[in-house]
Amino acid sequence: MFVTDARGVPSTWIVQWAGLIAPESRVLDVAAGRGRHAHFFAARGHKVTAVDRDVSRLAPHAGIESVQADLEDNSPWPLPGRRFDAVIVTNYLHRPLMPTLLDALAPGGVLLYETFMAGNERFGKPSRPEFLLQDGELLELVRGRFSVTAYEARMISEPHMAMVQRIAARRLS
Ligand SMILES: C[S@@+](CC[C@H](N)C(=O)[O-])C[C@H]1O[C@@H](n2cnc3c(N)ncnc32)[C@H](O)[C@@H]1O
Repeated sequence: MFVTDARGVPSTWIVQWAGLIAPESRVLDVAAGRGRHAHFFAARGHKVTAVDRDVSRLAPHAGIESVQADLEDNSPWPLPGRRFDAVIVTNYLHRPLMPTLLDALAPGGVLLYETFMAGNERFGKPSRPEFLLQDGELLELVRGRFSVTAYEARMISEPHMAMVQRIAARRLS
């Protein structure tokens, strides 16, 4: 397992499918938080852009461009015209942003998305429907536009009990 410091351990899903992403390519980490995935991909030699409304927790790294932006206040998308070879989203859901995130992928680019799904409320937060994926929602999101490499909807026990949905998919065109 990839172990890191206070930024946290990268998701096993992200680590498992990181190899789908071409070496040294451009990775966008959405709602990056403390940067556990931004730093993971930067350490692998990728050019990382990390977006969050609070980038103060993101330790600087030569391979990481940090972008402070509120992604939910109806401001324009902070990276207009930019295309990435991978988009990473973990533990974050704002449905109106979904089309923009898919459009930010270059053809052939890889989407790695993992977040909580309906049923998680029995384990705690997030528990509000707007923060929980519905059954099959990630599959529906990419249907017709992506080739799905892997998809799971399941209960996990590490790092804590949760219901999650996760996908690894490649944009077709
Ligand atoms: C649960 S954390 C997940 C962080 C990271 N993706 C991870 O898995 O370690 C959710 C992140 O979403 C960010 N976030 C929440 N609302 C946001 C908004 N309106 N605009 C941008 N980022 C936001 C928070 O600042 C936080 O870093």
